Amino acid sequence: MIEITNLTKTYSGKVHALRGVTLNIGAGMFGLLGPNGAGKTTLMRILAGLLRPTDGTVKVFGNDMSTSQGKQAAKSLLGYLPQELGLYPNLSAREFLDYIAILKGITDSHARKRQTNELLEMVRLSDVANRKLKTYSGGMKRRVGIAQALLGNPKLIIVDEPTAGLDPEERVRFRNMLSDTAARCTVILSTHVIEDISHSCNDLAIINKGGVLFRGAPSELIGAARGKVWTILTQGERPNDGLSVVSTLQLQNGVQYRVIGTPGAQYAATQVEPSLEDGYIWMMNHPESSKVSALQPAR
Ligand SMILES: Nc1ncnc2c1ncn2[C@@H]1O[C@H](COP(=O)(O)OP(=O)(O)O)[C@@H](O)[C@H]1O
Ligand SMILES: [Mg+2]
Repeated sequence: MIEITNLTKTYSGKVHALRGVTLNIGAGMFGLLGPNGAGKTTLMRILAGLLRPTDGTVKVFGNDMSTSQGKQAAKSLLGYLPQELGLYPNLSAREFLDYIAILKGITDSHARKRQTNELLEMVRLSDVANRKLKTYSGGMKRRVGIAQALLGNPKLIIVDEPTAGLDPEERVRFRNMLSDTAARCTVILSTHVIEDISHSCNDLAIINKGGVLFRGAPSELIGAARGKVWTILTQGERPNDGLSVVSTLQLQNGVQYRVIGTPGAQYAATQVEPSLEDGYIWMMNHPESSKVSALQPAR
């Protein structure tokens, strides 16, 4: 269990990156969704013990990160894949993982070799493990990144925007790998890509401007937009008056808009089933309808 209580981070005394975040996170895959600048990376770096909060507390499996013993104990239980992972271009994946394993304190060389081989197998890089990292594709580099996060069998894995820059196929493969990992431990995944969440997380939070806007299951976020998503057919004029247009489709008999809100009587509107993206857009535009009281895991 990860317990985050009233977490605040202010950079240089003026940039309010986190404004009192409270979240309890249980086992499985947890999604942290939010636009750029929301505070996701700040939160993840605090969870990983790399950044000190201005105020508030974080407990990782009961270990208080504000004490040096607590932080040390927590760090031995976690793996972190940062948003920008620097790889050594002239090392092979095998050499890189061996090096990170040493840094993580796995001193026995047989244990290191065994773990490195297992992880290379798991991320399906065994065949290319002796090639230099500079020859790897974006997706392959991300897989090396997850492998290094998994060294030392952590109970908590923190991954920050892991699918950025991946092509659709790599994205799917990477997501599946994370889901497999989440069967064994807690995974916290931050992203601004809705599909990353919808396919893999059973519990999520939306964070915006340093605060938690929503906490619940993906189905609850979808539910928040139910009854508010419509398609409208017009002869080209874009619907306005408070409606958010989420997509536009040119048809033979006009233009079909998918909108969120309450269309006026002048529109021939058809109500449709909301998607997770609709729920997200509704929540971002209607923060007053947010549901942040349920701070317990959705499962
Ligand atoms: N080291 C820093 N110094 C000053 N401001 C920062 C620093 N890191 C992040 N910020 C600011 O804090 C806010 C949250 O950033 P970040 O946590 O990176 O958000 P996200 O990962 O959701 O995009 C942004 O306004 C960002 O500009
Ligand atoms: Mg970030």
